[in-house]
Amino acid sequence: MSLQLLDKLAEGGGLSHAEYVELLQARSPALAEELFARARHVRDRIYGPQVFLRGLVELSSYCRNDCYYCGLRRSNHNTERYRLTPEQILASCEVGYRLGFRTFVLQGGEDEYFTDERVVALVRSVKASCPGSAVTLSLGEKSYESYRRLREAGAERYLLRHETADPEHYRKLHPESLTLEKRLRCLHDLRSLGYQTGAGFIVGSPGQTLDCLAKDLAFLADFKPEMIGIGPFMPHHDTPFAQAPAGDLDLTLFLLGVIRLLLPTVLLPATTALGSIHPRGRELGVLAGANVIMPNLSPPDVRSKYSIYDNKLSSGAEAAEGLEDLRRRLAEVNCRIAPGRGDHPNFVQQDETQ
Ligand code: 5AD
Repeated sequence: MSLQLLDKLAEGGGLSHAEYVELLQARSPALAEELFARARHVRDRIYGPQVFLRGLVELSSYCRNDCYYCGLRRSNHNTERYRLTPEQILASCEVGYRLGFRTFVLQGGEDEYFTDERVVALVRSVKASCPGSAVTLSLGEKSYESYRRLREAGAERYLLRHETADPEHYRKLHPESLTLEKRLRCLHDLRSLGYQTGAGFIVGSPGQTLDCLAKDLAFLADFKPEMIGIGPFMPHHDTPFAQAPAGDLDLTLFLLGVIRLLLPTVLLPATTALGSIHPRGRELGVLAGANVIMPNLSPPDVRSKYSIYDNKLSSGAEAAEGLEDLRRRLAEVNCRIAPGRGDHPNFVQQDETQ
């Protein structure tokens, strides 16, 4: 019965809500193995047994928002905040460029210091210093006009997880000022501006049910993001969810496999949260169908301050300096690092330097 659901998933078009729930309920080690084998097969057919690298620069830990799950939330007064200078950001990208990175992800809390003008200047300078690179922004919710300016400055991609596609669950994770409606409007704005757009959700966030996850999958099947980031919920000790249990590794891996079958061409990272919950979390993610890894390029002395949850990895194979370690770990799961910027196949490269 559940093998039929995998067949149906692979045929395209998605499943019904009830079928997603049924598939998640039917999860067993044997079904997971079958799913992962199919997911790897699909990934390898499209991309080969390869992962694309994205150099992550965490440019600011200041945030105006107050998401209940996140250690960078405004109400957390126990965390030391930092903000990188444009010189530090550029130097981080240049280090990555020399290591072979051709995508840079500028990620941060919603920090009002980073005005459109400042981010436009940053995007332009990264593009100029790292020719042939793609710039991904992950700076939260902005107006259409702001997204337009940043796109015009040269940013090609934007990551903005939807966090949960269930409006009531969204309410339980965020204060009143943040709504799913607004989040989805941002995602549609990004899409309409020609960004390769990334959505995603937290697996096992407090109050999440299989019903919520079925809605996440239905949303992804419908919106078809070019990139999807998912990772297990990890509690942070200075948030309202400090006592909540962490998300489930096996469920996260299962969802990665389902997403690969649902959207064969999706760029799907084995996220830092996955690497943080299990010592081989990222390799297991790759075995489940992931094809992106995002090593940290931030200056080593600020990494521990970008504390969105407890026990977040920022060294070893997680760090850009750990490329050899990463290569070795990938080889163990019959995978290698792909060269190049790794655009989604639907996007023709417009960068004249390529
Ligand atoms: N556990 C797991 N993921 C988290 N994020 C934020 N806080 C947590 C947490 N406690 C995720 C959110 C956000 C991304 C940057 O990190 O999905 O979009």
